[in-house]
Amino acid sequence: MIDIHSHILPGIDDGSKSMDESLAILKQMEELGFTDIVCTPHYIELTTFRANNTKKQELLRKTQAAAKKAGISIKLHLGNEIFVSRDIVKFLEKKEAMPINKKYVLFELPFTTEIKNLGDIIFDIKVNGYTPILAHPERYLMIQKDIRVAKMLKEKGVKLQCNYSSITGQYGKKPMKTMKKLLKNGLVDYLGSDIHRAKHSFYGDFPKMLKRIKRIAGESYFEKIEKDTASLIK
Ligand SMILES: [Fe+2]
Repeated sequence: MIDIHSHILPGIDDGSKSMDESLAILKQMEELGFTDIVCTPHYIELTTFRANNTKKQELLRKTQAAAKKAGISIKLHLGNEIFVSRDIVKFLEKKEAMPINKKYVLFELPFTTEIKNLGDIIFDIKVNGYTPILAHPERYLMIQKDIRVAKMLKEKGVKLQCNYSSITGQYGKKPMKTMKKLLKNGLVDYLGSDIHRAKHSFYGDFPKMLKRIKRIAGESYFEKIEKDTASLIK
């Protein structure tokens, strides 16, 4: 299994706080069956969460080496989860933020406020040759209120990545219900862990999440999602 959304690199966002914690996360992810993980630290302009690509690459090398030394064979990849901004393409060009596999731009939105020029931002990402992927659509109020917003985004060329743990209610009832609806309507393109901590209910609950997602989506749609998620790093 491939995870395309995680906060495993130590000390550069609100994710892992130390190399020890990163290793503890990786060990548990390996036990769950993950072979590849894309590290996607937050990139949020005007905050301290904006390590540039050189710094992230250096940290990735260190983490990969420490994992190898600890007997963990997960392969790490690099990207970002970029907080929505008119300047996303500029951040990519300046090598401050990184797309997944040179092509996929994982981005997030504010949970409750709507972004007025979102259409322009999406257009800008696409016209520059990137594929936008919205992180955890089930967590945004505008989609919880009206599933058609998710459909509209997809019509604009946005792919949708749900968090596994939304389905067991980690973020509350509304994200859980919304993820169900997204799955039932065939709107989910990818899944990710969005893991931040080594001590977390995610690991123990993961089998339950898989079971529930499979039951709602059906076996073949679930397999398609897993296959498409894996294809992002090919
Ligand atoms: Fe995230």
